[in-house]
Amino acid sequence: MATEYSSRGFLTIAVVPWGDQWKKMRKVMASEIITAARLRSLLDKRTEEVDNLVRFIYNQCKSNSGSSAVINLRLAARQCTGNVIRKMLFNRRYFGEGRKDGGPGYEEVEYIESVFTVLRHLYSFILSDYLPWLRPLDLEGHGKIVSEAMKVLNGYNDPLIDKRIKEWKDGKRKEPEDLLDAFILAKDSEGKPALSVEEIKAQCTEMMFATLDNPSNAAEWAMAEMINQPEILQKATEEIERVVGNQRWVQESDIPRFNYVKSCAREAFRIHPISPFNLPHVSNADAIVSGYFIPKGSHVLLSRLGLGRNPKVWDEPLGFKPERHLKDGCIEEVDLTETELRFISFSTGRRGCMGVALGSAMTVMVLARLIQGFSWKVPSNEANIDLSVSENDLFMAKPLHAMAKPRLPGEQLYPPY
Ligand code: HEM
Repeated sequence: MATEYSSRGFLTIAVVPWGDQWKKMRKVMASEIITAARLRSLLDKRTEEVDNLVRFIYNQCKSNSGSSAVINLRLAARQCTGNVIRKMLFNRRYFGEGRKDGGPGYEEVEYIESVFTVLRHLYSFILSDYLPWLRPLDLEGHGKIVSEAMKVLNGYNDPLIDKRIKEWKDGKRKEPEDLLDAFILAKDSEGKPALSVEEIKAQCTEMMFATLDNPSNAAEWAMAEMINQPEILQKATEEIERVVGNQRWVQESDIPRFNYVKSCAREAFRIHPISPFNLPHVSNADAIVSGYFIPKGSHVLLSRLGLGRNPKVWDEPLGFKPERHLKDGCIEEVDLTETELRFISFSTGRRGCMGVALGSAMTVMVLARLIQGFSWKVPSNEANIDLSVSENDLFMAKPLHAMAKPRLPGEQLYPPY
C-alpha cells in the first residue's frame, strides 16, 4: 500500500517490479540523472548546504551565551540532507521565506516530517498487503496517514515541477541548472520526452526518500556513539586535522583520505541501519541459496540487523569499533559499500543502490563537517548519550542532543552570520 501510494502507482525505480517500467526509469537515472558528470556539475550546490549546516550550528552557539549550545543533531542532519537534495533537484533550500540563521522554516520542517512518515510506513507490516481485499477498510489506519503525508509532499513539489515544465515549453529557460531540468530534458530513442509529467513527479519524490534518511541517520548514530567514546571522536578529529588542517573547510575532494572518518560511518551503517529489512524482493526464478531451496515467486526479506550484528561474522566485541574496517593499517581505501552483504549499506546486484557515490559523499561530508567545525560533549545535565533504539523503528529513541562549541580558530572561518 505505502509503496503504491508513494510511487504514484509503482512508477518509480526502487519499488517497481523488474520489467519495462523499471528498465525505462533506471536507464534515465543512469544516463541523465546520477551520472558522474552531473554530480560534478552540482558540487557547488552540495557544498553550499554543508556550509549552511556549519552556519546553522554556529549561529545557535553564538546566540546562546556566545560560545556553546546544545544542538539537536537529528534536526540539523536531516535538514542538511534535505537541503542538499532539494538544491540538487529544485535549486532551492527553502520552499518559503526560510530562516536567516540557516535553519528550516516551518515548510521544511513539515516536508521532512512527511518524508519520514512515508518512509516509516514503507517498511511497516499491514494485513492488507497480504490480503488485498482488506485494503478499503484501512484497518491499521496507515492508508490515511500515508495519503496525507503524500499530499503534503506533492503540495510542495508539484507546483514547482509544473511551473518548470511550463518555463521550458515557453522558451523561458535555455540551460539546465538542476536535476529537475535534466528529468524534463531527458529524451527517448525517438527524441520524445523520456518521462511523463507523472513519472517526473514520482521520481523526484522517490529521490527525496532515497537520499534523506540513510546519510542523516548514519551521521546521527555515529556522532552519538563517538560522543560516548571520546577517544574515537578524538581520532576522527585528528585525521581531519592531518588531512585538511584548520584553515579551510573539508571538501568532497578530501574524502578519499578520510579512512578513519569513513570507518566511523561504515560502523554506523553496520550496527544502526535505518530499517530491520532491506527493500522487499520477489525471486523471479527457482534458486538455491546457502543450500536452501527458494521457489520462484518467493517474497524475500533480507534482514539488515541480523547480518550486521552477527557475532560469527564480526567477532566480539560487537559494539561501535571503527577500527574493524581499517584494512592493513589503512593502506587500502575504506568505502561505505559492502558487496559481500556482511551488513547492508547500499546492497548489491541488479537492484542495488544507484546512489552509492552521492550517498557516500553526503554521509561523509555531514559527519566530517560536524567533527571539524565543533567540539562535542554530552549535555551537562546528562551522564552520557542515551543510545536506546526507538520501539517503532531503528532511529535513536530520542533525537540526539549534544553540546557544541566552535573548534576552528578565528570567527572568519565560519560562514557569515
Ligand atoms: C547513504 C546513502 C544511501 C544508502 C545507504 C542507500 C541504500 C540503498 C539500499 C539498501 C537500496 C536497496 C537495494 C536492494 O533492494 O537490494 C537502495 C536502492 C536504491 N537507491 Fe539508495 N541508498 C543511499 C542513497 C541513495 C541516493 C543518494 C540515491 C540517488 C539519488 C539512491 C538511489 C537508489 C535507487 C534508485 C535505488 C533502487 C535501485 C533499483 O531498485 O533498481 N540511493 N539504496
